[in-house]
Amino acid sequence: MTFRFPLAPVFCAALFSVAAYAADAPATFSKDVLPVLQKNCQTCHRPGEMAPMSLLTYAEARPWAKAIKAAVVSQKMPPWFADPNVGHFRNERRLNAKEIAILSAWADSGAPEGNAKDAPAPVKFNDGWNLKPDMIIEMPTDFHVPASGAIDYQYMLVKGNFTEDVWVTSAEMRPGNNKVVHHGEVWVRPPQSQWMRNAEPGVAYSNGEMRRSGAEGNDIIGKFNPGIGAQDFTLGGAAKLIPKGSDLVFEIHYTAVGTPQTDRTKVGFVLSKAQPKMRYVTGYGPQASNLLIPAGDGNAEVVSEITAQDDVILAYVQPHMHLRGKDYEVRVIYASGESESVFRGRFDFNWQFGYELAKPVQLHKGDRLVGIAHFDNSANNAFNPDPKKEVIWGPQNWDEMQNCFMGLLIDVKTDPATIFKSSGPSLQKRVPGKGGPTLSALEIPKQ
Ligand code: HEC
Repeated sequence: MTFRFPLAPVFCAALFSVAAYAADAPATFSKDVLPVLQKNCQTCHRPGEMAPMSLLTYAEARPWAKAIKAAVVSQKMPPWFADPNVGHFRNERRLNAKEIAILSAWADSGAPEGNAKDAPAPVKFNDGWNLKPDMIIEMPTDFHVPASGAIDYQYMLVKGNFTEDVWVTSAEMRPGNNKVVHHGEVWVRPPQSQWMRNAEPGVAYSNGEMRRSGAEGNDIIGKFNPGIGAQDFTLGGAAKLIPKGSDLVFEIHYTAVGTPQTDRTKVGFVLSKAQPKMRYVTGYGPQASNLLIPAGDGNAEVVSEITAQDDVILAYVQPHMHLRGKDYEVRVIYASGESESVFRGRFDFNWQFGYELAKPVQLHKGDRLVGIAHFDNSANNAFNPDPKKEVIWGPQNWDEMQNCFMGLLIDVKTDPATIFKSSGPSLQKRVPGKGGPTLSALEIPKQ
C-alpha cells in the first residue's frame, strides 16, 4: 500500500528585518497591521473566544500595541511550538519575518491608525459548523464550570448507538461555550475497550478516575483547540472507522472565567459515501511508562520507542506530557540505520497542540519511532507542583507522562492494535533512583 504524496510546499524565508521595514513608509493599522491580525490573530482574539482581548478594530488593538510587539517578537503569539528547523506542517501557524517587522514598526512609531479607507473588509467568521455534518452527537448534560480555580480534565461518556460500522471522512468538535473550553478531544471507544466501562453516561468524571490504557483501539476522532476548525481524514483516500457498538468519550479541559458557566459540547461527522482505501487511526505512539525524573532536575531526558510491525504511514503527531514537560522530538530510525527527525518543539501543557506532517512518512516493518522528551523538574518551572519530588508515570497532573498521539494511515484490514510494538528503552525496567530511560538506552544499528 505504498503511494506517493504530493511534494511538500517549499517555504522561503522572507528576507525582511525590522530595520528594513521601518525605513519604508510608516506602518499604519489600516493598511499594514489589520491584514496581519485578520490572518493570524482574530480567530482567537475576538468577542466570545477565549483570548483575553479582541483585536478586531483599531480602538481595540491600539492599547495593546506594545504588548503585541512583545508577544510576536518573543514568538509567544500566535501560539505555535514547532522548531522551524525541523519539518513543515499543514496546520502551521507562524508569522513570517515581514509580519513581525510590520507589527514591531507600528508599535515603535506610536501605533498610528492611518487612513481607514486602506483597511480590508472585516473577516466574516463562521460561528456555525465548518463542515456539513451528516450526524451530530452532543453531550447529554451540561458541564457546570465554576467561576474560579483550576479545573481538572473532564471525561464524559456519551452513548453512540451505532448499529453498524460507520466511516467518517471529517469531524468537528464544537464547544457549546467557547469562553471556557480551552481544548478537548472526542474519542471513539470501541466495544472491546474497557476504558470507562463502569462510567455512567452523561456524568463528568475528572482526570485520574479515568485511566486509559494503550492497546484497546480507542481512537481520537475529533479535536478542539481555538481556531482549529474541522479535521479531514481523507489523506490517501482514508477515513476513520467507528466500529459498530462503539461509544464516544468527550475529554475536555475547561478554564474558569470569573463567573459560573455551563457547556454542552458536540461533535459533527461527515460520513463516507464510498468504501475508503485506507483507515486513519489516531492513538498511542511511543510511551515511557517506565519513566523516572529525578527531583530538582531542570532538563531530565526521557526516551520511548515503538517498532512498526507492518506498513504504516505517519501523518500526525501530538506529544503529551504533564506540567513538567519541556520539549519533545519525534525521530524515525529506519531499519537501514538512517534516521530523521519529523518533529521537534517546545511543549506547553496548556495547549496540547497536534502537528500535521506536510509530508507524511512511510514506515515499513522494522522501522522505529522514537520519542525524545525533556522535563523541567526544577524550582525554575513555575508550573512544577513539587520540585523536591522524584516523579514517575501516572495519570494525575502531579505525576508525569511521556507519550505521543499519532495519526496513522493503515490498511483497512489491519488491526490498529498490531501495528506497533514497544521496543528498546520502553521495555527497560525502571531503576530506583536512576533517571530515564535516556538516549543512551537507544540501540543504533551499525551501518
Ligand atoms: C490560538 C489562539 C490564539 C491566537 C491565534 C493568537 N492568540 Fe494571542 N492569546 C491567546 C490567549 C489564549 C492568550 C492569553 C494568554 C495565554 O493563554 O497564553 C493570548 C494572549 C495574547 C497577548 C497578551 C500577552 C501576554 O503576555 O499576556 C497578546 C499581546 C496577544 N495574545 C497577541 C496576539 C497576536 C498579535 C496574535 C496574532 C499574531 C495572537 N495573539 C494570536 C490566544 C491566541
